[in-house]
Amino acid sequence: MRSFTFHPGPMLLCGGDKLQDLVNALPDGPCLLVSDAGVLRLGLLDRCRDALNGAGREVALFDAVEADPSRKTLLTTVELGRSVGAASVVGFGGGSPMDVAKLAAYLLGSGDDLDSIWGVGLARGSRLPLALVPTTAGTGSEATPISVITCDRGVKLAVNAWALLADVALLDSDLTVGLPRHVTAATGVDAIVHAVEAYTSARLKNPLSDAFARDALRLLAGNLVAACDEPDNLDARSAMLLGAHLAGIAFANAPVAGVHALAYPLGGVHHLPHGLSNALMLRPVLEHNAEAARALYAELAPIVDPGCEGAGSQGRVRALIDGLERLCVESGLRLRLRDHGITADDLPRLARDAMLGERMLINNPCAITEADALRLYEAAW
Ligand SMILES: NC(=O)c1ccc[n+]([C@@H]2O[C@H](COP(=O)([O-])OP(=O)(O)OC[C@H]3O[C@@H](n4cnc5c(N)ncnc54)[C@H](O)[C@@H]3O)[C@@H](O)[C@H]2O)c1
Ligand SMILES: [Fe+2]
Repeated sequence: MRSFTFHPGPMLLCGGDKLQDLVNALPDGPCLLVSDAGVLRLGLLDRCRDALNGAGREVALFDAVEADPSRKTLLTTVELGRSVGAASVVGFGGGSPMDVAKLAAYLLGSGDDLDSIWGVGLARGSRLPLALVPTTAGTGSEATPISVITCDRGVKLAVNAWALLADVALLDSDLTVGLPRHVTAATGVDAIVHAVEAYTSARLKNPLSDAFARDALRLLAGNLVAACDEPDNLDARSAMLLGAHLAGIAFANAPVAGVHALAYPLGGVHHLPHGLSNALMLRPVLEHNAEAARALYAELAPIVDPGCEGAGSQGRVRALIDGLERLCVESGLRLRLRDHGITADDLPRLARDAMLGERMLINNPCAITEADALRLYEAAW
């Protein structure tokens, strides 16, 4: 038998009625609740805060996480946790608050120095008890051991270590019904890219991550447009939230690759939303990979376009790439870099910065050099 390692995600609670179970999973003592201003304004935190208070946990709320959270935000959050003697951490929101919560829980619990743990497998201490509640159906951060923080010059660094995997995650699709269309679309495409890149991940792909990736893609591709067109469609919202979680488990084990590596500089430097950045680079990178990943893309294609079953592998690859682009367009995303304030002069720096994503590039089905990256940005422009 081929050898592989697979980590399941955190304990999973599904449904709004499971909130009390989440609270019960946390120890006594002050709880650091990490979120953002938008989530707070929408009142999404109220039930969680009430449940924590009702269980006698003093709540210290940090509600100032920004999209693509900065190192400064992370360290301010840690400072608040330390000052109240936090015994547990809850991350509540999209990927940005959840990523800050994960790393804050680790830094508070371990006492490690942040600059000694960037990269894969270097955070080996223990974190505070940690619960995560996603309010976007996208990053799957509630299922992954990864925290992405924007550092100097807009470079996004990540800590990727199993110590960051949460104890418990709660999926409640009611929390996602208020997502505006463009956020539903962008975050949903992020999740789709997680599934596709996990399925083709060059080093750590395995039969279990494959199963999670396929099922994630089925749920996400089948429901993205419905979630955008009918925001109150709870079946579609639930499918997206579950799909994003399954995709998170898939890429936690079989890491993402070229699309993400080329998406990151668009977020770090130009502040485009993470999911949109992925959507912009999806077609160029998949076309670059088309020959190297032909067999695997051909396996995924019927999930996105059932009509391509009878086609040969090249026809299926085309159907996958076209089908994914169609989903992006139907969900309302504009797919050219120039639509989002990027100029042709920006492309060389983007290509240079993309090379910093070595931890992702090594998972791509084929090499992406700086010259390739420039060509792919030009294709996306
Ligand atoms: N840790 C991981 O495994 C992982 C994976 C992918 C991406 N990421 C990171 O996650 C971040 C992106 O996260 P994101 O895409 O979820 O966006 P986000 O967390 O930055 O949120 C985007 C916006 O959506 C709003 N929002 C969140 N939930 C809402 C709701 N229910 N209704 C209305 N508005 C809502 C927020 O207030 C915010 O303004 C990036 O920093 C990215 O690098 C992490
Ligand atoms: Fe992502």
